[in-house]
Amino acid sequence: MPILNWTQEYSVGVKELDEQHQKLMKMLNTLFILYEQNKFNNVDVNPIFQELNDYANLHFSTEEHYFNLYNYPKKMEHLAMHEVHRRKITELKGEYDSNNSAKTLFAISNFLNDWWIWHINNADKEYTSYFNANGLK
Ligand SMILES: [Fe+2]
Repeated sequence: MPILNWTQEYSVGVKELDEQHQKLMKMLNTLFILYEQNKFNNVDVNPIFQELNDYANLHFSTEEHYFNLYNYPKKMEHLAMHEVHRRKITELKGEYDSNNSAKTLFAISNFLNDWWIWHINNADKEYTSYFNANGLK
């Protein structure tokens, strides 16, 4: 699953969160392009990871803020998924630091793409009707 393009089918029905998902996809593409063009040897991957990590955390905090604000019933399950992402990205980054291999970068890129697509289409879309009913669109 190489380049991600945000389309309406990924919409979670909340403008702010859709915009964050769009930005995240662009950042994931940056990582994939680096692998694809075999440029990661000349480029410092650290700031890219850092930016991705920071932005993912900002996005999770935004969602979690709304979960609390509207008392979202599936909050706990959803938080657990965000936590898995937080842990996994640290683990993958550690792996990349230890071997700097194209294979690892590809695995990371694939993992993140799959994770985000699954998460948006399943977990995130579950809050659409709840948030919308609370006036968050
Ligand atoms: Fe989420």
